[in-house]
Amino acid sequence: MIPQRASYRDIPLYAPPKRPCRVDLSDNTNLFGVPPSVERAFHAAVSRVPRYPQGYAPDLRRALAASIGARPEEFTTGCGSDDVIDSALRAFLEPGDTLAFQDPTFVMVPLFAKVNGLRPVPVPLTATFDADADALLATGAKVIYLCSPNNPTGTALSRDAVERVAREAPGLVIIDEAYVDFAPGTDALDLARALPNVLVTRTFSKAFGLAGLRVGWGVGSPALVAEVEKARGPYKVTSVAEAVACEVLTKDADWVRARAEEAVSCRERLRGELTALGLSALPSAANFLMVPLPGALAVAERMRARDVNVRAFQALTGVGDALRIGVGPWPLMETALAALRESLR
Ligand SMILES: Cc1ncc(COP(=O)(O)O)c(C=O)c1O
Repeated sequence: MIPQRASYRDIPLYAPPKRPCRVDLSDNTNLFGVPPSVERAFHAAVSRVPRYPQGYAPDLRRALAASIGARPEEFTTGCGSDDVIDSALRAFLEPGDTLAFQDPTFVMVPLFAKVNGLRPVPVPLTATFDADADALLATGAKVIYLCSPNNPTGTALSRDAVERVAREAPGLVIIDEAYVDFAPGTDALDLARALPNVLVTRTFSKAFGLAGLRVGWGVGSPALVAEVEKARGPYKVTSVAEAVACEVLTKDADWVRARAEEAVSCRERLRGELTALGLSALPSAANFLMVPLPGALAVAERMRARDVNVRAFQALTGVGDALRIGVGPWPLMETALAALRESLR
C-alpha cells in the first residue's frame, strides 16, 4: 500500500445518490434538449481531435469578451466552473488558510477546501437567505465564496450584501453565478470588472445545455485572471468543447434565453402544484425549487423507485431536510408530481 496523504483519508469521492431514472431532475441541467448549433459545431471540430487544444482557450475567451463587451484578458476558462473555482482557491490560498463561504451552498465548495488543505469556515445565511456580510467579513478569510442564485436553496443574494463583501473583503471574493441566466439583471459582472479582487464564475452546464462538455468560465481583473490561469494549467478545455461553446454562445443566445424563460414559468407552475400538496418551496431565482420536507431522504428514495430522481438534503443549516427539484418541460414535472404524491403517502 502506498503511504496516503493524511488529510486525504476521509475525503469521499463525489457520488450523489443516483440510479438511472427515466426522469432525472437531480442536477439542475437544461432538460429542454440540445442547443441547435451543437451538432454541426461538433462535427466541424472533429478534425481538431488528433492535436492538442489551444492552451488557454483563446477563441472562447474572445467570444466571451465579445458577448459582454469586455477584453479577452479578463476571462479564464476551465473544465466546468468547478475547475475555475478550484483553480482560484489554489491560486490565492496556501494550505492551512481560511476559506469562508455562505452556508448552505454548493456542496463542492467544502470539498475543494479539503482537497486544497484549507480551513473551511461556513457562515450561515440570514433568515431571509441573504449573505451575512458582517459575519463573512469578520472571518478575515483570504477568500470568501458567495453563490447567487444559490444552490441548493435557489435564493438570490441581495446586491447590498454582495457589494459590501466585495468592497470590504481583505482578499479574493468568488461570486458563483452558475444559475444567473435564470435571473437576468441580478449579476455582479460590473463588480468583477471594476474591483481587483472579485471573480465571477459562470458555466455552460446549466442554461446553456452543455454539461457533458464541461466548460466553465470566470471574469475578473486581468492580474487576478492571470493567477487563476497559472493554477489551472493548460489544456483544460478540449478543442471540441471550446468550438461548441463558442458556437452556442454566438449562435444560440435566443434559444438559451427562451428555454430559461420556459424553465422559470414551469418553476412557478410547479410551485403552485406543490402548494396544493401542502408544501412550501423557498423563493427561487434558479431552475429548481428547494422544498423543505422532514424525511426528504426517504421520500426521494421512494420517488427513485418510481423512476424519478430528485436530490434530497438532510439537516441543512436554516432549512432542515429538503428536496431539490430541477425544472424542465411541464410533462416531466407532471411525472415528478405524480411520483411525489405517491411517495408522500
Ligand atoms: C452553484 C454551482 N456552481 C458551480 C457548479 C459547477 O458547474 P460546472 O462545473 O458544471 O460548470 C454547479 C453545478 O451543479 C453549481 O450548482
